[in-house]
Amino acid sequence: MKFFRASVIHLFIILTIIFPFAISDLKSDKQALLDFAAVVPHSRKLNWNPASLVCKSWVGVTCNSNDTRVVELRLPGVGLLGHVPPNTLGKLDALNTLSLRSNVLEGDLPSDVTSLPSLQNLFLQHNNFSGGVPTSFSLKLNVLDLSFNSFTGNIPQTIANLTQLTGLSLQNNALSGPIPDLNHTRIKHLNLSYNHLNGSIPVSLQKFPNSSFIGNSLLCGPPLNPCSIVLPPPPSPAYTPPPATSHKRSSKLKLTMGAIIAIAVGGSAVLFLVVLIVFCCCLKKKDNEGPGVLKGKAVSSGRGEKPKEDFGSGVQESEKNKLVFFEGCSYNFDLEDLLRASAEVLGKGSYGTAYKAVLEESTTVVVKRLKEVVVGKRDFEQQMEIAGRVGQHPNVVPLRAYYYSKDERLLVYDYIPGGSLSTLLHANRGAGRTPLDWDSRVKIALGTARGISHLHSAGGPKFTHGNIKSSNVLLSQDHDGCISDFGLTPLMNVPASSSRSAGYRAPEVIETSKHSHKSDVYSFGVILLEMLTGKAPIQSPRRDDMVDLPRWVQSVVREEWTAEVFDVELMRYQNIEEEMVQMLQIGMTCVAKVPDMRPNMEEVVRMIEEIRQSDSENRPSSEGNKSKDSNVHTP
Ligand SMILES: *[C@@H]1O[C@H](CO)[C@@H](O)[C@H](O)[C@H]1NC(C)=O
Ligand SMILES: *[C@@H]1O[C@H](CO)[C@@H](O)[C@H](O)[C@H]1NC(C)=O
Ligand SMILES: *[C@@H]1O[C@H](CO)[C@@H](O)[C@H](O)[C@H]1NC(C)=O
Repeated sequence: MKFFRASVIHLFIILTIIFPFAISDLKSDKQALLDFAAVVPHSRKLNWNPASLVCKSWVGVTCNSNDTRVVELRLPGVGLLGHVPPNTLGKLDALNTLSLRSNVLEGDLPSDVTSLPSLQNLFLQHNNFSGGVPTSFSLKLNVLDLSFNSFTGNIPQTIANLTQLTGLSLQNNALSGPIPDLNHTRIKHLNLSYNHLNGSIPVSLQKFPNSSFIGNSLLCGPPLNPCSIVLPPPPSPAYTPPPATSHKRSSKLKLTMGAIIAIAVGGSAVLFLVVLIVFCCCLKKKDNEGPGVLKGKAVSSGRGEKPKEDFGSGVQESEKNKLVFFEGCSYNFDLEDLLRASAEVLGKGSYGTAYKAVLEESTTVVVKRLKEVVVGKRDFEQQMEIAGRVGQHPNVVPLRAYYYSKDERLLVYDYIPGGSLSTLLHANRGAGRTPLDWDSRVKIALGTARGISHLHSAGGPKFTHGNIKSSNVLLSQDHDGCISDFGLTPLMNVPASSSRSAGYRAPEVIETSKHSHKSDVYSFGVILLEMLTGKAPIQSPRRDDMVDLPRWVQSVVREEWTAEVFDVELMRYQNIEEEMVQMLQIGMTCVAKVPDMRPNMEEVVRMIEEIRQSDSENRPSSEGNKSKDSNVHTP
């Protein structure tokens, strides 16, 4: 008998080894998900059909490689409503990532969720959870985002034990009390802004910017105000702030917005002045004369406030060192005029700083001051010559002139007042914004595609744009897309980490830094996806939640969840679904991993034109069908 029992146990152990609990575990994961879906209403269908394969066809669910456990659950913006009951998601004990962000969940967050043993990433931002933050956490927790909820109470001390923690976002809640010391964590991103926290900021967190802590009026210490003047005596004429450290800060605090703007504008003017002075120095240096050089105007008129001696002897020299204009350019100014122009910084990019310069006679141009040029004068001039030649197209922002000296390289472009596609898509999201309608998006996409296609055909197989991104798509006066900033890549030493362009780089460019027409096509595909989704390619590098845009779109589309990818702003226009889906298909072929699988730019133009053709036959303009109700699809 005893022997029998022992052998049964033995057999059981053997069975356990042969058939690990995997099958029943996936079953229990499935049951936990079904329990969750049964009690939490959601406005979008999840299609969690008990009869279908959890790992293959359930929306938002990702399994491990052998499909034995659910390891990720991502249900952003599906309209989940109400409470998350304990013993539902809290049973998914192999889960490493949970995203329920941008839903309408409320009430307490059950602690069995935060303490799931494998949990690494928890994204619950933009809900309305309330009550205290749970105090038990997975020790593997990496990113915790509970921002934009209604959590109250203290930040749990136990967060300080999370040695793997790299990102903590608790902003825009109603948390109170002191900030725990997090010096045992690996925290890199911290946001505690807009709560009711008090006390002094722990030394270990003082390296974070003040935007990590703003909106907590009772918080003090670096990087905020020194604690000693947290509750300053009522201002009286006799009161003088203590000197040294706090002096700088308090005077800083007194700056009004106007003053800040004034300083910014003044600062850029000063910067430009510095450029000017550098110019003047350069003028005195010898350099070779290139073809097509415009003669510098003589200074004989003696106009301008600049003391004459600055230029007096430089005039002759300046003939050898001046702006090189391209053919067909009607501008009639010279370096001196440019130097006298009032300038304002338009933006700083990976290639350098762009200034808007208003010359006398109110000509406005953009001057781009390149940094890190890695080629010599000969190569620079050659590349400029090509860029000037191929840049003649209505959808390309033409390069008008350049200046090269040992210490300074400037490019002069037309000023395009319409702004960039990036601004139109992403600026002031939220109330009061004028959405960019579908017709405009298609028009901009088509214009941009034509511009790039022209660059490819006119420049030859070696000539690439190399830096296609939505901030380089500018809007002409008739709201057509124009591509700018082309052909500079071979001249520059652009660090691979320059983040603004990162999301647009083709995989092979990331690996080998080699640009081709097909890598331009990839970048353009990202712009199409950006335009369709309203999402910037890399929203924020710290968010493991938002992988790069092409991958995100592919995953959503694979889950047959296509409607979910589109920008909510587009939901107000009717009869455009078909066009959007067609455009999505174009975008997705452009971002194919393998360069040879991507169409060339000419084909892309044709495909977009076909959308427009079928459009003009089949439907009235989307403008005419604007529906008042833009909330239909708002998550
Ligand atoms: C969030 O929940 C609180 C109660 O916990 C409630 O007072 C508030 O109105 C809710 N906010 C929204 C936007 O639903
Ligand atoms: C956190 O660490 C403290 C000691 O520093 C310990 O007392 C506490 O139990 C730990 N909490 C957790 C949840 O591990
Ligand atoms: C923290 O969040 C606030 C509010 O959303 C934002 O204004 C601030 O820039 C954020 N700070 C950091 C460091 O991300």
